[in-house]
Amino acid sequence: MSADVKSSDSEAAVPTRKVLLTCVQPSGGFHLGNYLGAVLNWRRMQDDYECYFGVVDMHAITQPIEPAKLRASTLELVAWYIASGLEPAKAHIFVQSHIIGHTELAWVLGCLCPVGQLERMTQYKDKVARHESVGAGILNYPVLMAADILLYNAHAVPVGEDQKQHLELARDLAEKFNRTYSPTFNVPEPFIPKTGARIMSLADPAKKMSKSDEDQSGTLYLGDTSAVLRKKIMSAVTDSGSEITARADKPGVTNLLHILSACTGRALPSLEAEFAGKGYGDFKSAVAEAVVATLESVQKKYAELMANKDHLLDVIKTGDEATQKTAYKTLAKVYRKVGFLERSR
Ligand code: TYM
Repeated sequence: MSADVKSSDSEAAVPTRKVLLTCVQPSGGFHLGNYLGAVLNWRRMQDDYECYFGVVDMHAITQPIEPAKLRASTLELVAWYIASGLEPAKAHIFVQSHIIGHTELAWVLGCLCPVGQLERMTQYKDKVARHESVGAGILNYPVLMAADILLYNAHAVPVGEDQKQHLELARDLAEKFNRTYSPTFNVPEPFIPKTGARIMSLADPAKKMSKSDEDQSGTLYLGDTSAVLRKKIMSAVTDSGSEITARADKPGVTNLLHILSACTGRALPSLEAEFAGKGYGDFKSAVAEAVVATLESVQKKYAELMANKDHLLDVIKTGDEATQKTAYKTLAKVYRKVGFLERSR
């Protein structure tokens, strides 16, 4: 597929459509939060934007991960992307470490970014609170994420709610670069879905569903069998009382209602009305069946894709090539603006 990009000598790529960029870390399984809070939303946007969907393996090494696991998870994530409805014929699916420009732009942006701003990031503070020593990669993580976004001059960045603060930093750095040098970057807009933007752990609805949670019984993976999905949902923590309603003092039931709403496309009031007077058992069974039915076709497609790894590698190759072209253009423009002497050819 062509990058659909016009270029001129003096300016970086001018896309004919608005640009969307977003990414997932290949740091383990692909879970229901990633699917409902992120990829489902991207699928709906891919017809309207020039899309870049990244697999950010460089972000994944900010936490310890076995090399073999990282390599396998990278390919698996591409398969989950496609199985979830992202279409390589419409979008550029790429692997971050294959593209020259992400770390180069991150260096330039990092030189504009006060350390204090990075130290105030919630995800950094949480990790510092949990670990004895934290690598510089974790501190610089949001700068690399800003580079991911600005390298493609993205207008739209659809993410779950947990990424909002990182997006703010990307916006700040775009504005700071534009002020310091000259207008260069769009200030990217976050797109956070109304339903599914914050799927919580089934074991502890005060925490977001996550692959790094110690208690994995609260995380629903798309790779889980139907039996495991049903078991995790039937054991989900519920709240005192028996009412099935979305309310601040009922975080467990509220989370399950949001999952049911995202899987069925039905609004919360209609679900609350349906389950009025019914017990938690009936309610959880309905959630389990909705999740199993939603994921069935995605899981089937995933299995087919994983049976043909060469095809997945071809998808990445094609995505990388188009992505690299755009990345080079932006990087050349940035290097010129900051005053780096042009390399002789
Ligand atoms: P990551 O890999 O943790 O998650 C990928 C996407 O899934 C969303 N998400 C959730 N949504 C709802 N409920 C949840 N429990 C849940 N957990 C995760 C995330 O919000 C995200 O949209 N830093 C990013 C990856 C990244 C990125 C980027 C994203 C790197 N560069 C550039 C956008 C643009 C991350 O760790 O996402």
